[in-house]
Amino acid sequence: MDKKADNKATNVVWHHATVTRERREKKNKHRSAILWFTGLPCSGKSTLSHAVEESLFQMGCNTFVLDGDNVRHGLCSNLGFTAEDRTENIRRIGELAKLFLEAGVIPLTAFISPYIKDRELARNLVPHGDFIEIYCDSPLEVCEERDVKGLYKKARSGEIKHYTGVSDPYEAPVSPEARIDTANQSVEKCAEDVIDLLISRGIIDKPVK
Ligand code: ADX
Repeated sequence: MDKKADNKATNVVWHHATVTRERREKKNKHRSAILWFTGLPCSGKSTLSHAVEESLFQMGCNTFVLDGDNVRHGLCSNLGFTAEDRTENIRRIGELAKLFLEAGVIPLTAFISPYIKDRELARNLVPHGDFIEIYCDSPLEVCEERDVKGLYKKARSGEIKHYTGVSDPYEAPVSPEARIDTANQSVEKCAEDVIDLLISRGIIDKPVK
């Protein structure tokens, strides 16, 4: 579809703030970046993103977790799980995360985001280096064994259609900024690995012990 023809917002002019992202970052004493967690259902996205947020918060950083199940109650409550709806879900989250980035915050997004092209779209909304893709790498068997909400079971019995990993695809990242072994490592170790990555990329400073 022609993107321009589809864009209903005409006569809208971008307003440039005097309080810029740079000024906010300086005040916050950390850079902002999008931490984009992706993985199968029950691969540990929510758990890990909240654990990383807790560490960052304790270090004095401005953070916010955008979680699949929560966002689907509000902003994306009109969307289901067809490929088209998932794409729109991720597009909205990408735009939302971009606003958080401008606000000087470190947004952590925890969505399955199963399609490579959708994640690439979200990545390309922001400057190079501001999108950190974190692959919660856990085999399907482990995720299914966890089955926190009993949805794998329902998907196997056919009660739920198009369930990621069972009857819908998950396209694993090819070269994510981080691949975290959420099947075999503790939550603490996984969170530590993400924090170390942020330090090595100059997003946050190494804490003084
Ligand atoms: S995404 O594919 O568009 O990124 P999202 O992360 O927002 O998905 O939502 C996933 C959550 O929706 C799962 O944790 C699960 O609780 C619920 N869900 C309900 N139906 C499905 C389905 N068919 N596939 C995957 N998740 C589903």
